Amino acid sequence: MGSSMQVTLDSRPAAKVEAEALVSYVFEPEKEQGTAVEGAIADLDKAAGGALSRVAAAGELTGKMLEFTLLHFAPGVSAQRILVVGAGKRAKFGTAELRRLASAAVRYLKARSVKRIAFLAREGERGADAAEAVTEGLILGNFDGDKYRTDKKNPPVESAALIGFDAEAQSGVDRGRIIAESQNFTRELGNEPSNWLTPRLLAERAEAMAREAGLAIDILDEKRIEQLKMGALMGVARGSVEPPRVMVLTYTPEKLTPGAPVLGLVGKAITFDTGGISIKPSNDMEKMKFDMAGGAAMLGAMRALAQLKPPIKVIAVIPSTENMPGGRAQKPGDVQIAMSGKSIEVINTDAEGRLILSDGIAYAKKLGATHLVDAATLTGAIVVALGNVNTGVFGSDRDFIDRVLASAKRAGEKMWPMPLDDDYRDLIKSTIADIQNVSGGRGAGAIVAAWFLREFTGDTPWVHLDIAGTAWLDDAKPWAGKGGTGVAVRTLVDLAMNFNGRAPAAK
Ligand code: BES
Ligand code: ZN
Ligand code: ZN
Repeated sequence: MGSSMQVTLDSRPAAKVEAEALVSYVFEPEKEQGTAVEGAIADLDKAAGGALSRVAAAGELTGKMLEFTLLHFAPGVSAQRILVVGAGKRAKFGTAELRRLASAAVRYLKARSVKRIAFLAREGERGADAAEAVTEGLILGNFDGDKYRTDKKNPPVESAALIGFDAEAQSGVDRGRIIAESQNFTRELGNEPSNWLTPRLLAERAEAMAREAGLAIDILDEKRIEQLKMGALMGVARGSVEPPRVMVLTYTPEKLTPGAPVLGLVGKAITFDTGGISIKPSNDMEKMKFDMAGGAAMLGAMRALAQLKPPIKVIAVIPSTENMPGGRAQKPGDVQIAMSGKSIEVINTDAEGRLILSDGIAYAKKLGATHLVDAATLTGAIVVALGNVNTGVFGSDRDFIDRVLASAKRAGEKMWPMPLDDDYRDLIKSTIADIQNVSGGRGAGAIVAAWFLREFTGDTPWVHLDIAGTAWLDDAKPWAGKGGTGVAVRTLVDLAMNFNGRAPAAK
């Protein structure tokens, strides 16, 4: 995974730490005549005989967001390099910015083959939450989607010493490592080409992960899928010679009170989406290997939860198939009977995600889920609405939606609520079946998809995350390379960890 970075707390003074690079950050001064060299950075500057303030005076250390200033062999400082990163305005800086900044610093240093780094805390960001954000950022920044390259260009950073953090910071480091490594697990799955990640191979990866993490896992093969009458999933799977799978992973807390809520996580795992008979244009079709990102997010979240041990039972149900236009493929106009008993007119075979999710949702309910969250790269329409910035959030229960949004906020993942009024329900009316899988019109595509799912969630509080715009980065950012983002893992982990207690206020 390229992320196995050792992160430790270190109590030595910053100037005395021997590392290839000492990283910290500065804010834009509030006043025009002010300097970015203040607080802990002023102390470092003093030890370095004013090296930093001279750079600032030259106008090359301004505090602008993600400005990088690199100094070599500053006198009085044991580290070979000092990397100062601009953090923007203090008032706009929180743990989300800190996480990104740490990622960007690692990517910057990794590109220069730096192996051992130190990260100096700033006043106000020295506790467990800050340590968690920094640890996550460092480990996420260390990830590269270069598994299949024989000429790996950016070797990973091997170790990071966290300087100047409080005594409680260790718990944050431990949490951060678990969460970031799990998010990287999800990112790696998202990057896998479909020839290396068929539904069967995904199930094997899930099984290996579950065994290592200590989770119970049940993998439904095509026979059991048929016995359970998952007709919507089978309809999609018909077009492929690769058999479908449904992965069911269960985390059970040590103390399980009867009647306690059970969180069900349902993830779309189309290992490749050609569109089926309603075939997609070839432009950009290669991207459709990431159409399993929702399922991968659930696997990453379960991997983290197995170690973080929330007080609540969590079941992940991940239906997986290819969507192919084979000779036996379902055709537009076909009617499938879903596991719930509802009949579905398949107007467009490219709206396959909602079909397989409908059976995943039904099965999660059958297994006892009292609350449902699904994640899916479900619609191009959500990308039109929200671009690549926010995940679209839909749901049937205002309180549950708010809890997911609060978790997203704390986890530093941008999510935005979308409407799901009853008035939209008409769009999935079918003349010959209970519902149809697309509206036939152009409008409200992401809402139509969400309404389709709602038909299967019934009274169970449910939140749907449309991650089609956020699960993949088309171009590298300073804090992350091109490819799978692992979106939703951190939000889902936060949700499960805070499920029983009152969720702390979002920062
Ligand atoms: N996997 C796609 C959605 C998608 C599009 C994800 C772009 C990521 C980027 C989904 O299965 C799909 O094809 N949806 C169709 C629905 C349409 C036929 C109603 C779409 O969005 O075009
Ligand atoms: Zn599709
Ligand atoms: Zn799809």
